[in-house]
Amino acid sequence: MPHRFNPARRHNLLAPERRKRLPAARIVRQLEIAPDHTVLDIGAGVGYFARALLRQLGSGGRLIAVDISPVMLEELEKNLPRSPAEVRTLIADAVQIPLPDRSADRILMALILHEIAEPKAALREARRLLKPDGRLLIVEWHKIKPPPGPPEKERLDPGELFKLARQTGFDIADHDDINRFHYLTLLQPVARKRRHDIIE
Ligand SMILES: C[S@@+](CC[C@H](N)C(=O)[O-])C[C@H]1O[C@@H](n2cnc3c(N)ncnc32)[C@H](O)[C@@H]1O
Repeated sequence: MPHRFNPARRHNLLAPERRKRLPAARIVRQLEIAPDHTVLDIGAGVGYFARALLRQLGSGGRLIAVDISPVMLEELEKNLPRSPAEVRTLIADAVQIPLPDRSADRILMALILHEIAEPKAALREARRLLKPDGRLLIVEWHKIKPPPGPPEKERLDPGELFKLARQTGFDIADHDDINRFHYLTLLQPVARKRRHDIIE
């Protein structure tokens, strides 16, 4: 089993050096969020990225912060700014989130996939939750030796991620290095064939 982030170290997720290394506002811009979107932050932790997501939302918008750890979500609630958008926290495992199919316009999974024993199941679940024109943004550690970060063997190489993404019904819309430790990958659901294409 991959190790899971220790909630006792939760304050490190808001450390100033993290802000320099992972500029949240710039990273979430990749999602092109509209003010009325429903956005899921899966593995939201204490809200480092959720704060930036919430700033993109207006009234009619909704942020759902999902995490398996109640301690992390309690802390997240304290860290979010006031917003006209609706905010909801949901304690759930990323592989089984109790929300309806196609209920999300945008999903963020930042630094969570490497903590999940079955990343493919988590991607499949994100695919189920996304609307057909939705987008999923993944932020992950490059597969290099720590420090900083989790053990090398638990990290997901971009090549492995692309393979899992294609197997679960995604196209790769964008991919880039954020810094020498982290990369981002933007995924979009594979378009369903139009009806007349299928008949022929
Ligand atoms: C390294 S923290 C990253 C938090 C946040 N995304 C950030 O970048 O600041 C990983 C988070 O994923 C959560 N997590 C780990 N496994 C999970 C799972 N199976 N389902 C939901 N959340 C999970 C942990 O509780 C933790 O809050």
